[in-house]
Amino acid sequence: MSRIAIRSAAQNKTTCLRSVSIVGTGSYLPERVLTNADLAKMVDTSDEWIMTRTGIKERHIAAKDEATSDLAIEAARRALAQAGVAPQDLDMILVATITPDMFFPSTACFVQKSLGAVNAACFDLQAACSGFLYALETGRQFIASGSVDTVLIIGAEKLSCITDWEDRSTCVLFGDGAGAAVLQNRPGTRGILSSVMGSDGNLSHLLSMPGGGSRNPASEQTVKEHLHFLKMAGKEVFKYAVNSMLGAAKQALEQCALTIDQVDCIIPHQANVRIVQAIGERLGAPLSKYYLNLPRTGNMSAASIPVALDEAVRAGFIHQRDVVLLVAFGGGFTWAAAILEW
Ligand code: UT7
Repeated sequence: MSRIAIRSAAQNKTTCLRSVSIVGTGSYLPERVLTNADLAKMVDTSDEWIMTRTGIKERHIAAKDEATSDLAIEAARRALAQAGVAPQDLDMILVATITPDMFFPSTACFVQKSLGAVNAACFDLQAACSGFLYALETGRQFIASGSVDTVLIIGAEKLSCITDWEDRSTCVLFGDGAGAAVLQNRPGTRGILSSVMGSDGNLSHLLSMPGGGSRNPASEQTVKEHLHFLKMAGKEVFKYAVNSMLGAAKQALEQCALTIDQVDCIIPHQANVRIVQAIGERLGAPLSKYYLNLPRTGNMSAASIPVALDEAVRAGFIHQRDVVLLVAFGGGFTWAAAILEW
């Protein structure tokens, strides 16, 4: 059994816990591609504006009858196949999403049903674009403590169903997709070396979907007022995204006593190429270390990091023993970072 010493800031003591590794990844993007040229026919925008302000060229959009769990299930199947893990061996399924199939039951339960993962405890968690890293840390804690052995974590979104297709300031940014990872203790591997999470609820108003919940239950009026669509104060969010991801990355490096030069690959939340450039400069990591799929996918919230991670692994961008930094920022506000030895 592989174990790792984890420093607990709260207790200021070192505990010997099981190490936790990602042992398989998978992803799924819906078939339909929406290009910037397509968007220019829908709202007053241009390929030139979208490319220079965001770096996004196109994004995938789920079919009308495709729900978030459908995307999640496909990504999960691919991750399980790569890990060589059977659905019945899953002890837990965590789905990070802001676009669940329904309020309840959880999207994780729909995934369970389709996979036949009869032994898994299932729940969703919500930390917007940081959701996958929150799921990674949650899964890690359960395995590290010895409570469970195998956890499937998924970041999945059908953002197209909460996108206001008449609002050019947001509709050009988002896409649909899902990414999954299987977590286990694997003897001989160190896996997750550090992980940090943080939130600031004072800034919740800058990025939200106000309608449909208990604050503004769905009504004719909320539909008329477009409250069931995502709203974002882009400029403010941009500033906080850079500072929060930078802080989280530095904290995660500090926690495992590594420097940025020792990191081989960085997978940031893919919201805007200018955010990645700003972080790159201030972290002191060349852009060649970053894996970016943003031009092809747009911002997929909780799905962004796991889809990029799976693509990076399959493309040979990440090699065995590489040190990988994952870093995210999202509505809430929430932020998170994790460092793994692959
Ligand atoms: O994933 C969660 C975290 N999300 C993020 O990290 C997103 C962070 N924010 C951003 O990425 C950027 O703020 C945006 C890409 C959303 C916007 O870029 P910006 O450089 O901050 O532009 P802006 O909102 O200040 O808008 C500049 C101009 C405005 O026109 P005026 O007022 O200068 O005349 C907008 O009306 O661009 C206009 N504009 C557009 N023009 C053409 C806004 N959207 C569009 C558009 N096409 N799609």
